[in-house]
Amino acid sequence: MFNYVGDISTISHYIITKFLENKNVAIDGTLGNGHDTDFLKDNFKKVYSFEIQEEPCKSYINKNIKNVKVINDSHHLLKQYVKEPVDCIMYNLGFLPGGDKKVTTLHETSLESIKAGLEILNSGGIMTICLYRGHEEGREEEGCIIPYLKSLPKNKYGVMEHCFLNRSEVAPILLVVEKK
Ligand SMILES: C[S@@+](CC[C@H](N)C(=O)[O-])C[C@H]1O[C@@H](n2cnc3c(N)ncnc32)[C@H](O)[C@@H]1O
Repeated sequence: MFNYVGDISTISHYIITKFLENKNVAIDGTLGNGHDTDFLKDNFKKVYSFEIQEEPCKSYINKNIKNVKVINDSHHLLKQYVKEPVDCIMYNLGFLPGGDKKVTTLHETSLESIKAGLEILNSGGIMTICLYRGHEEGREEEGCIIPYLKSLPKNKYGVMEHCFLNRSEVAPILLVVEKK
């Protein structure tokens, strides 16, 4: 086991904990099994959590956590539901581990959501994107999200990529955007 060079979700939690100053409102763009939402609910006053599948939404709602609003809809519509600026947005793209692999995030809507999210991200806010390239749609996401993030003006956004250099070429990557 590695302490640092391991799971990219854990690294994303560390980055948010360590480098984000204001922890008021957060969005989890992909609720899934709820690990990221659990992390966010412990660290933020309010969390909006998006998920297109009904079952994961029901399971999380049953936990009855007061500061989490679960939204059973696609994250590309986030501005319809979130009417306030946010400090943090997390995406863990792809399909639900242990679930139906055909129900996956899609490159068009993932990109649309990232664009909308950056608009409502507060100054000093952080967006993290865990991107899994081991399946076809993940490669499509890589093919449009990375060029978009590269095009962001460097006087407004800092963008970093964390990738494994000695693993498969399709090993997952963590993208981090910080808004100035
Ligand atoms: C990799 S899993 C998320 C893992 C999750 N963050 C966790 O901590 O367990 C990706 C999830 O995104 C969901 N999803 C797919 N397309 C979506 C969309 N357009 N909007 C919101 N969620 C979506 C899938 O149903 C799946 O549950």
